[in-house]
Amino acid sequence: MNDALTIVNKTAPVMPVAQFKSLDHAKACAELFAEAGVPAVEVTLRHTDAWQMVKLCRDLMPNARIGVGTVLNRRQMLRAVDEADFVISPGFSRELSMLAHKTLTTYIPGVATATEIMAAMAEEHRVFKLYPAEAIGGVTLLKSLAGPFPDAVFCPTGGISQANYHDYLALPNVHCVGGSWIVPSEEALAKDRKGYLAMLKS
Ligand code: 3PG
Repeated sequence: MNDALTIVNKTAPVMPVAQFKSLDHAKACAELFAEAGVPAVEVTLRHTDAWQMVKLCRDLMPNARIGVGTVLNRRQMLRAVDEADFVISPGFSRELSMLAHKTLTTYIPGVATATEIMAAMAEEHRVFKLYPAEAIGGVTLLKSLAGPFPDAVFCPTGGISQANYHDYLALPNVHCVGGSWIVPSEEALAKDRKGYLAMLKS
């Protein structure tokens, strides 16, 4: 079912974008996210074991929606349809959009320009990953996009951090942000698991 708005919503304002370094790293983070009650996570396809990492998250985070990110092509989309709860791409592709609609998959395409938003809206999308948010204009760009696209909802990612995420969340057209900064490395987790747990819960 295409329920992107339930994933990108103000009650879950920061979605971890996970680029796990190993299966052990994925396991430790999934346990942390489960304990913190994280409702949704994007697991990027940027590791040879990425699909196993997706499965680990599904097994260890039974109450969360597990998304597959960095989905770039048809093969990845078709696998993600079976193995994840939702799918995210860094950009917009009509082919992937059509596959998502056909398979009733919740799909959040990436956009960076007004032209891409128009193309995606023509395919019935209104929830987008704005990527790479900071590099393409961040908060200023999102304010400008609100004029011509009052119905578009964004989850900006790319360059967002503890220092600036509140500025994004203050915008009406931003329902959540995505970021890797709240995904600890194994070393950081070993040093300060409590701190990350508190940050994820806040
Ligand atoms: C993504 O894939 O969404 C980004 O790489 C995440 O960006 P960040 O590492 O700057 O949070």
